[in-house]
Amino acid sequence: MTKAVKCIFAHIISFNSDPLLNPSKAVTEYAQGAMVIDDIGKITWLGTREDLPKTYAKLPKDDYGKQYLMAGFIDSHLHYPQYRMLAAPAKNLLDWLNRFTFKEEARYHDADHATNAAKHFLNFLHANGTTCAMAFSSVHKQAADILFSAAAASNMALITGKTMMDRNAPDNLLDQAQQGALDSQSLIDKWHGKGRLNYAITPRFAITSTEAQLAATQQLVEQNPNCYLQTHLSESPEEIEMVKHLFPWATDYTHVYEQYGLLGKKSFFGHGIHLSERECTALSDSGSTIVHCPTSNSFLGSGLLSLKHLRQAKRPVKIGLASDIGGGTSYSMLHTIGEAFKIASFNNIQLTALEGFYMATLGNAKTLGLDNEIGSLEVGKWADFIIIDPKATALLEARQAISESLDDSLFALAILGDDRAIKATYVAGKCRHQISSNLNTA
Ligand code: GUN
Ligand code: ZN
Repeated sequence: MTKAVKCIFAHIISFNSDPLLNPSKAVTEYAQGAMVIDDIGKITWLGTREDLPKTYAKLPKDDYGKQYLMAGFIDSHLHYPQYRMLAAPAKNLLDWLNRFTFKEEARYHDADHATNAAKHFLNFLHANGTTCAMAFSSVHKQAADILFSAAAASNMALITGKTMMDRNAPDNLLDQAQQGALDSQSLIDKWHGKGRLNYAITPRFAITSTEAQLAATQQLVEQNPNCYLQTHLSESPEEIEMVKHLFPWATDYTHVYEQYGLLGKKSFFGHGIHLSERECTALSDSGSTIVHCPTSNSFLGSGLLSLKHLRQAKRPVKIGLASDIGGGTSYSMLHTIGEAFKIASFNNIQLTALEGFYMATLGNAKTLGLDNEIGSLEVGKWADFIIIDPKATALLEARQAISESLDDSLFALAILGDDRAIKATYVAGKCRHQISSNLNTA
């Protein structure tokens, strides 16, 4: 039996389902809400303050008044060794990788650097309300090990993996097909399924892997069917040209991964901006996910992903939402939702705030197969949640005075909000970040 240890008062907002499918039933809202957390960090009761059972009346309380309590954000594609290299100006993706990114990632051979970076990386995530992430680590086995240890220390749900790359990068960043696979396997054996941690088999992208490495990756996937796979796909025109040149036998970019058995329900492909009908059908049939990274796509000038194209009813492709730090320009999933709205506008789609917040929480949890555990506020799920102040800044306060609905209030947060709106972040019931002034502790 677990024991209730804390009660949180706030305006509770949680998704039940995709607002695109059923807008009126998608959200549960308790304006005068209460949530009770147990001693293992899970939600044990949820409802209105009025209905709070008497047995919980004497629990210690964190009272956030009218501020919003929501499930923590899930960021399903970003790069830990790029934690501080945001805002590196380049002509395009390949220029950015060659001029800035590889140089920065090479520092992760140093354990002290990797340890310090892991601490900052997780702090930035928590300060921005992100409680679960799927991150690329660097090519160094030790750096991935360090990140897993740091996440374990805060009982955070983290998915990561050592990047594999054996060509088209500086020598000090290359592994070799067999050694890369052996190192990955030993990290899987140590970390996959330990506590809240999971392993993602991580070939960087087709350009930096030889066919021998892709074949070794296929073996890893076959031997570890419960692990995730993460990589990049169809991000920029120059990248697609280079893939054509490196894999002349392939019908298209997706075919390269398909040939090596890398599509599937646990496979996550960053970007997927320029996909053909054939590629969308292959991704849809295999249950693969495309992860939309809007701030990265506009920063690197990679292109404008069309949600409508991916969602076509006859071959819908699953879509995640992510920051893609450090190609992305913000850790904030509020910014990410805002930028997704802008990109959708270019494609004549109006992305609602409810849809954006859904994608960043329960939607991402569903694509990751973690929706039994996280993504919404429900009894039995982990108490991974955030407190958002809808009036965190003077401008937000002025704008919220004319907000007409929950969707409108969340929209203002997505366009005008940032880490200043994240008043507190709780991971497995423990407060990991707080802007202190608004808390009444009783
Ligand atoms: N493609 C291959 N590597 C990367 C990376 O680090 N960032 C992005 N945005 N795209 C990539
Ligand atoms: Zn990426």
